[in-house]
Amino acid sequence: MKTEVLSAAQPVLVAAAPYLIEQDYSAYTDEHHAVWAELVRRVLPELEKHAAQEYLDGFEIIGLQRDRLPKLVDVSARLAPRTGWNSTAVSGFLPAPAFFEMLAARRFPTTTWLRSRDSLEYTPQPDIFHDVFGHVPMHAHKVFADFLEHYGRVCASIEDAAVLERLGRLFWYTVEFGLIRQGSEIKVYGSGLISSHGECKNVIDGHCAIHDFSLDEVLQTSVKVDELHKLLFAVQSFDEIYDAMHEAERRAKRGTL
Ligand SMILES: [Fe+2]
Repeated sequence: MKTEVLSAAQPVLVAAAPYLIEQDYSAYTDEHHAVWAELVRRVLPELEKHAAQEYLDGFEIIGLQRDRLPKLVDVSARLAPRTGWNSTAVSGFLPAPAFFEMLAARRFPTTTWLRSRDSLEYTPQPDIFHDVFGHVPMHAHKVFADFLEHYGRVCASIEDAAVLERLGRLFWYTVEFGLIRQGSEIKVYGSGLISSHGECKNVIDGHCAIHDFSLDEVLQTSVKVDELHKLLFAVQSFDEIYDAMHEAERRAKRGTL
């Protein structure tokens, strides 16, 4: 049972409750595991060179396997003692209140379906490869983990759609498509870069401008989902996104975000 890895202090989910499911691991076929293995094989050699060290460390910490789909209860059991995060199975796309409620409770909404061999590069909706391979390793990093919970908590308290849209940009340019400078190199940590060979290569091959992370510029940069990125943002350390979220919260409370 997935509840076994949750601490007694876990808040009860209300908005997200209708979307919670169990991962039926026995339903995955040999073909599913083979597709997972192929997806990993396509991107891991590149990531070993170009992913943030924190992502690669997280990959080992949560015990991802290269040739088998992950069991969410096992991933969560490894994460819980480190950061208290839990990878929680959901039925699909969540409305914003349910999504924010889960982040605020350190429960990452995780899809359990896997793309088919016909669409290795792209799926319009996130699947378990994007969610677990792309996102969950970073949840083992304490500062990132704190940032993500704080993001959910702040967004859950906001009703103004325009403010939420701007905060969505912060999520997009960090959690989904974030970059970090490590030594003299640019490394990827955003899940959309980690889980997409094409998006990652676009950055590595220099087809995308990279600006130093600035909360002001991120909040002013709209999100485009139908083309490869032409501009992304690199932090110097994960403390920057942690601090940016606190600044965003202050501005939201003042009505200046
Ligand atoms: Fe994502």
